[in-house]
Parts: sequence; structure tokens; C-alpha cells
Amino acid sequence: GLKYFGSATDSPGQRERAGLEAAYSQYDYIMWKSGEFGQTTPTNGEKKWLFTEPEQGVFNFTEGEIVTSLAKKNGLILRCHALVWHSQLAPWVEATNWTADALREVIVSHITNVAGHWKGQCYAWDVVNEALNEDGTYRESLFYQVLGEEYIKLAFETAAKVDPHAKLYYNDYNLEKPSPKTEGAARIVKMLRDAGLKIDGVGLQAHLTAEGHPTLDQHIDAIAGFTKLGVEVALTELDIRLQLPANETNLAQQKEGYKNIVGACVQVEGCIGVTLWDFYDPFSWVPAVFPGEGAAGLWFEDFSKHPAYDGIVEAL
Ligand code: XIL
Repeated sequence: GLKYFGSATDSPGQRERAGLEAAYSQYDYIMWKSGEFGQTTPTNGEKKWLFTEPEQGVFNFTEGEIVTSLAKKNGLILRCHALVWHSQLAPWVEATNWTADALREVIVSHITNVAGHWKGQCYAWDVVNEALNEDGTYRESLFYQVLGEEYIKLAFETAAKVDPHAKLYYNDYNLEKPSPKTEGAARIVKMLRDAGLKIDGVGLQAHLTAEGHPTLDQHIDAIAGFTKLGVEVALTELDIRLQLPANETNLAQQKEGYKNIVGACVQVEGCIGVTLWDFYDPFSWVPAVFPGEGAAGLWFEDFSKHPAYDGIVEAL
């Protein structure tokens, strides 16, 4: 059985679309009070580098306390996202030509301060996010360019020291069916283990499309491929976008997609939880990033539910 079924949420100041204030009370009720969700992940302002260390050595946790304290108050499990990532990185990190030593210090200081601030409050940390290319090779991020794969070891080593009780995850997208990229993620798990370091889980972001979602068996194979290595798996950012407008056909495809992936997680022991990357379509990141696509969540703008909601209920 799953430990949790949850949804990511932004603190109000970070919500994607302004002008929906009237919807906030209904949104907040579903998020925090309705019992739909037993877990949350702050989407943006809380934990990402851009917001938590906007200037070197200057840490900001104000925004970051909002979702964290709401989770605590309402009894939701918290996942924390993300410590080392090439995106939404603070400009000062990107603007400098780092020596290896200086960049090591930057990584250690960031993790020590950020993971240290929320020590004991995160069920899990996404320690490294999106380090891989589609072919399984490493992404040429600035971290990789300066330190090679050592930056991954350093991040996990530091996180384990700072918050020994948090589950430490490697998190990435396109890991939901077997591919060279899933092999790359398995390689990262083994590399950390061989170095004597702690890694507890692999996060499958699970940003899928209604028209092209994998099969149940593909999901099961990918998830079991990781649990066989002795790590747990979570679906960390699940959404299934479709080509707008939504219609009966693509909503049925979306329902099947949600049912498949949640069903696969339920069926593989060691797949411990599911997090939607927000549940409410107007607050989804999809339309801003994938033009022409949207309706990726489970609740439409008018708060009626997608057919996929029932697909998930069938899978659970
Ligand atoms: C996205 C947020 O949802 C957006 O609001 C933000 O503008 C960009 O980041 N993979 C991740 C998440 O690990 O952090 C991303 O979240 C979506 C893709």
C-alpha cells in the first residue's frame, strides 16, 4: 500500500495565475482540509535555490515557511524539493566561473543551510534533480562541467550528514518506462552505493501526456527496475497534460494514463507514494511551458473533477 497520496502546491504568492482569488478558499479547502491529500510538496518558492539563496550566503526562508507550516498544521507529510538542480538556480551561481574547490563549498553551504533549516521536517529530499540527458549520459550542467559526477556524491554525502532522517532521492523526468535514461538513473544509485553513500529513493516526476502515455506494464517494469536495487520509488510530480481543448477522447486517454501509472505504483512493493504536480488546472505549470497543452490535473477551473479522478480511485 502507498504511504501517501498528495499534491504539490505553491504558496499563494507563487501561484501561476493571478486573478483567481475567488477560487482560493475552495482550492485551499481541497488542498488542506478535504482529506483528499495526505502529503504535499512546495512547488516553487519554498525550497528551490533561486528563492532560498538568492545571493551567496544570504538565505531566505520566509516564503518557505508558508506551505511547510500549513502541512504541519494540517497533518500532511512533506516532501522537500530540490537541493541541487540546474534550473531555477540563483543567477549568482550561474554568473561565476567556479573553481572546483569554490563550487564544492557553494554546494556544501547551500545544502547545509537549506536542508539544515528544515531538518527533521521533510519525509524526503530531492537531493539532485534532473542530472541526466535522455540517452542516459550526464547533463552538462554547470555542476557537472566543473565537478563531473562528483557533485552528485557531494550533494548526497552532505544531505545525509545534515538531515540523517530524511529519505534522500534522485529525481528526474522520463523515468516512467525502461529507457537509456532509466539505466542512467540506476547507474547513479549504484555509483552512490559503491561510494558508501546513502540514497534511499528514485523519484519519477511523471510528467506524462494523455495522447502518448506508457502502458501499465512499462510502468511496472521501470518502477520494479529501481526497487530491485533496494531503493524506494515515488511518483513525485505526476500530471498528464493533453492537447487543448479537452474533449471526451483525450479525457478518456488521460484517465487511462492516470490509472496505469497509479496502478503500477500500487502494484509494485517499494513504490511508496504519489504526488500530483498541483491538482487544479489553473495552477498547473503546463500551459506556460507547453503551448497548446493543459488540463493536466484532476480538477477543472470550475472545480468539477476530471474523469481521471475516477481512474485513480479504480487504481488505488
Ligand atoms: C516547475 C513549477 O511547477 C513551475 O511553476 C516553475 O515555473 C518551474 O518549475 N520538474 C521539476 C519541477 O522538478 O521543479 C518543475 O516545477 C517542473 C519540472
